[in-house]
Amino acid sequence: MAFGRGAKMDGRRPSSSSSSFCTTTTVVVFVALCLVGAWMMTSSTVFPLEISSNKKSVVKQQPAPVNFGASEDAASGNAGESSGKFEDTDNNDTTVPEESNNKEAPEEEKFTENMAEKPEEKEQEPPREREENKDMFDDANGKSEGRSDDVKNDNDDGDKSEEKKDDEITNESGDEKPDGERKDDREEKSEGDATQEEQPQIEEKVEESGEKKEQSSNSNEVFPDGAESELLKESNTQNGSFPTQAAESKNEKEVRASSKSSGDESSYSWKLCNSSASTDYIPCLDNEKAIKKLRSTKHYEHRERHCPEEPPTCLVPLPEGYKRPIEWPKSRDKVWYSNVPHTRLAEYKGHQNWVKVSGDYLLFPGGGTQFKNGALHYIDTIQQALPNIAWGKRSRVILDVGCGVASFGGYMFDRDVLTMSFAPKDEHEAQVQFALERGIPAISAVMGTKRLPYPSRVFDVIHCARCRVPWHIEGGMLLLELNRLLRPGGYFVWSATPVYQKLPEDVEIWNAMSALTKSMCWKMVNKTKDKLNQVGMAIYQKPMDNNCYEKRSENNPPLCKDSDDADAAWNVPLEACMHKLPAGPTVRGAKWPESWPQRLEKTPFWLNGSQVGVYGKPANEDFEADNAHWKRVVSKSYVNGMGIDWSKVRNVMDMRAVYGGFAAALRDQKVWVMNIVPIDSPDTLPIIYERGLFGMYHDWCESFSTYPRTYDLLHADHLFSKLKKRCKLMAVFAEVDRVLRPQGKLIVRDTADTINELESMAKSLKWEVRMTYTKGNEGLLCVEKSMWRPKELEAST
Ligand SMILES: *[C@@H]1O[C@H](CO)[C@@H](O)[C@H](O)[C@H]1NC(C)=O
Ligand SMILES: *[C@@H]1O[C@H](CO)[C@@H](O)[C@H](O)[C@H]1NC(C)=O
Ligand SMILES: *[C@@H]1O[C@H](CO)[C@@H](O)[C@H](O)[C@H]1NC(C)=O
Ligand SMILES: *[C@@H]1O[C@H](CO)[C@@H](O)[C@H](O)[C@H]1NC(C)=O
Ligand SMILES: *[C@@H]1O[C@H](CO)[C@@H](O)[C@H](O)[C@H]1NC(C)=O
Ligand SMILES: *[C@@H]1O[C@H](CO)[C@@H](O)[C@H](O)[C@H]1NC(C)=O
Repeated sequence: MAFGRGAKMDGRRPSSSSSSFCTTTTVVVFVALCLVGAWMMTSSTVFPLEISSNKKSVVKQQPAPVNFGASEDAASGNAGESSGKFEDTDNNDTTVPEESNNKEAPEEEKFTENMAEKPEEKEQEPPREREENKDMFDDANGKSEGRSDDVKNDNDDGDKSEEKKDDEITNESGDEKPDGERKDDREEKSEGDATQEEQPQIEEKVEESGEKKEQSSNSNEVFPDGAESELLKESNTQNGSFPTQAAESKNEKEVRASSKSSGDESSYSWKLCNSSASTDYIPCLDNEKAIKKLRSTKHYEHRERHCPEEPPTCLVPLPEGYKRPIEWPKSRDKVWYSNVPHTRLAEYKGHQNWVKVSGDYLLFPGGGTQFKNGALHYIDTIQQALPNIAWGKRSRVILDVGCGVASFGGYMFDRDVLTMSFAPKDEHEAQVQFALERGIPAISAVMGTKRLPYPSRVFDVIHCARCRVPWHIEGGMLLLELNRLLRPGGYFVWSATPVYQKLPEDVEIWNAMSALTKSMCWKMVNKTKDKLNQVGMAIYQKPMDNNCYEKRSENNPPLCKDSDDADAAWNVPLEACMHKLPAGPTVRGAKWPESWPQRLEKTPFWLNGSQVGVYGKPANEDFEADNAHWKRVVSKSYVNGMGIDWSKVRNVMDMRAVYGGFAAALRDQKVWVMNIVPIDSPDTLPIIYERGLFGMYHDWCESFSTYPRTYDLLHADHLFSKLKKRCKLMAVFAEVDRVLRPQGKLIVRDTADTINELESMAKSLKWEVRMTYTKGNEGLLCVEKSMWRPKELEAST
């Protein structure tokens, strides 16, 4: 293997552990931007000549460096242009962007203000949930889970009050509050008639006072509705104007709290993780003990997941000087240095102008490493070479292999394309951490020995730039994994030196790739150059049907066994084979999904009434009901009723997505949503992709493959009650704490006892309880993470 994987890997991503890797690190850094996967090596191009000499030893395998160096500087110029438009994909492009267009610094402020105002303007409606759906949901949940939704309310309220919000918002948005403190709770509850507590009120109060507590609500009322009047009342009430109710609720709470032993906040004792990864600790990727025991790292095994036997319950320390992240879209161009203080990266990149330190910021001029002259130019060049790719219409969800700091994905938002980017975890490069800090979706993953955590045939396009992944070796094992993930008729865009350079090594790889892709029935649909960015690309198309497979003279690569489930992707070893394509018109993959944005709402053609949905109805009805349910909940409750300042929310995770209804309902917000389908839930992930959303499989008894402090909002619908049967809730909560940014929110809908338990846990972490509501056996909780960290270190991690 000319390109021994091991070698490459070492060269590039070495780092984590030893100092010896310093050199490597350097290299890595440079390369980092887009390297990805284990195998991928970026083209050497990126490196500055000087540097390359230093590292050579490590780097050797890379092809001769191409120089883009000069141009990179130039890139910054371009950056300006691009910066002009920031749009979110999720949002209607047009809408959001306008505000953002101006992006000058001042704008930020403006932007913020606007956002802040928004809420005010809108009336708050209490969150309501829907009952209608109950059945469905319940089912969905499970299966046995309760039906939370129902519980909630039907009520709508009528009025909405706006007033308080301003204050709240302002304060909220403001900065960080000391976490530690809690304020007393006030309880508001209104139980009586008016009673329903309205969430808005609560929230507001909370903010004002700091903590809120809950409500109890025994009342019949549904989840909080808010009427304006009520809000007002509540405020009055808070202080005890309505002593009776307050007292009542308070008592209740106390009673409840005391009744549950597990729920007692004093029973939790949190300590700081004592890991060498310190503030960047990812338990399943930083398991040094397990990594040391690996017999080989040739296939990047050391970058794969190795979860601790006992999931940690410690808390990850906060970097010194951590600040609330800059808001999207400004964050695409700059982030706080103190939040991702990777000096080497900054230094090295500084030379190259991909990333540079400027005052308190890290800047990403010109779209990052791979595109010295602008990622958008590159993106548009792809579409010129292949108009049928139709960004934002035919092509909506794509995979970027070896994303680096994910500039490609960041700019794809401008074309209404959602990009799942991944790169191997590397302590020194921390590329994925940069991507997420910028507000661009990415996970730490590697093309090693196992399948990537996605279902088969879901990505419209797969992209790999500066991609040094040894696709052609070992029977094409890694390229065959991409083949599994690619939708029939989908495209693979490969821009790497073998496509446009003539060095002997490049030629050799090109020839091997040509033979491999041909044997896989991939058709090269164009090969072209982005002259401005000095890269060339070859675009391949996966077949739509089995004709070509059947006509091959040699069964190589072989077809997978019929028993091989192409969607099985959790810890499933890679195998060098191809799955047969769907046969028959009613099967998923038989035809291309609707174009975006129609895809979002349309029931996938392959869901029909003869299948039973997650909630027990015919699948197509189930889908529609779920969609309607979440639209209602999100617009009434989450967006308008909880006091969340959505301008501060960018990275969102639905920890237990079913059909992606929650994510779909957030489409008008400037957010992206990572939809997680837990491994023990019905596998609805293909449906999520079919509608132009994305996500992955995960087991919440283990840590998620992301850096600490990378999400602004986590949403868990009937997840924890289910999880606590399999693993320790405290460990799951520690993971939630790890993933969530300070001042990030967690919204939970679950059984009442789980809600109570989580509330106590949140309080023991000095989080602010923004809203709690329980009724019957169902409850809703909204909490905000604080900056608080324990002082004491755990013995070892
Ligand atoms: C996007 O915004 C435009 C203009 O505001 C509107 O006409 C269009 O319907 C929106 N599209 C979607 C999908 O929201
Ligand atoms: C925010 O809260 C502080 C104290 O809680 C208060 O003094 C200040 O006026 C509030 N700001 C706004 C804008 O309401
Ligand atoms: C609540 O009452 C206390 C004492 O009765 C008073 O000091 C405080 O200002 C009141 N708070 C509000 C918000 O009315
Ligand atoms: C390939 O791309 C070039 C532009 O890069 C375009 O002019 C040409 O028509 C394309 N070829 C095909 C077959 O689409
Ligand atoms: C419904 O879907 C199933 C599974 O995709 C398929 O076998 C069946 O033919 C479909 N029925 C109709 C009427 O389309
Ligand atoms: C933290 O871990 C290191 C190395 O495992 C250990 O030497 C040290 O004692 C630990 N610190 C504490 C406070 O236990």
